[in-house]
Amino acid sequence: MWSKYIQGTKTLYYSRKLRFDDFFAEQYKKLFDIEENKKLNMLEIGCGPGALSGALHRWYPNAVVTGIDRDSEFIRFARGHEDGITFLEGDAVALPFVDNSFDVVISNTVCEHIEPSKFYGEQLRVLKQGGICLVLSSRKGIKDTSDCVAVGRHEEQFWQKVRQYDNTFDKYSVCRYAMSEKELPAVMERCGFRDVRTGFAAIDLTPDHPDYPAVFAHQIINAERYSDLECIDSVLYTMPEHVTQEEAREMKCIINKKYDARIAQYDRGEKQWDTNVSIIMVLRGVKQAVYVSALP
Ligand SMILES: C[S@@+](CC[C@H](N)C(=O)[O-])C[C@H]1O[C@@H](n2cnc3c(N)ncnc32)[C@H](O)[C@@H]1O
Repeated sequence: MWSKYIQGTKTLYYSRKLRFDDFFAEQYKKLFDIEENKKLNMLEIGCGPGALSGALHRWYPNAVVTGIDRDSEFIRFARGHEDGITFLEGDAVALPFVDNSFDVVISNTVCEHIEPSKFYGEQLRVLKQGGICLVLSSRKGIKDTSDCVAVGRHEEQFWQKVRQYDNTFDKYSVCRYAMSEKELPAVMERCGFRDVRTGFAAIDLTPDHPDYPAVFAHQIINAERYSDLECIDSVLYTMPEHVTQEEAREMKCIINKKYDARIAQYDRGEKQWDTNVSIIMVLRGVKQAVYVSALP
């Protein structure tokens, strides 16, 4: 359902491949604060097409990583694109694992969509005593697009029409449980986690960043292209009665031309300084170890 109506497979996979590129590994590892060389059993909940699971497999080579998601298309794609990980189709609120089976559970942009007592309750159940729960949540970043990819008049008219009929978020409870930076840790504590702490990773995906090679800059530009193109596909699925195939084709053509132009600018060395910085909040909580009395 998610991949068809809400965010496409390429949108999530290629944006997350950038977000969890090795270039940013040290920022995340510091916030995760888990033992790097231990044989940890790790579970990614709502793994989508698998990019974060792939990063965990690279960053913690001795860990055993499992990814689970309700969307069968994401799981099919993940199995074909990320090696060394077990990907399973399943529900975050009825995890198919016995109690106390994981050292670490992690999720990225999933807590917003699932009722917190169910979301955290299941994670507490499958975590071992002393196990770590990591929750990543995207916050307001900095985005200033290049003029050549800005939304033109024709596109704006298309989106205005679409917005009138769009009830996807309500229909599928997308972001129903979105919370502020202040609310998130409080809820995690209320749901039973201890030693909750938070931190922020700043992921700079600015194509003209001087340290980025051309291939990375192209990937940044193309990730935006995939996202815009798949938005058109989602609209066709959700409201076929309001959008024709011809309109969709025309919109995709406009989108492709814009991103081709941005890539050409980049290749000619014409800096745009369009800025794209994602801020990722990382929450870390511990399942309290059972207290064992030393007294006889
Ligand atoms: C915003 S996407 C994030 C996907 C992935 N974590 C990523 O960053 O690419 C939210 C994901 O949560 C999954 N999801 C939502 N509710 C779920 C549930 N109850 N059980 C399992 N997965 C769920 C969706 O299928 C989707 O893949």
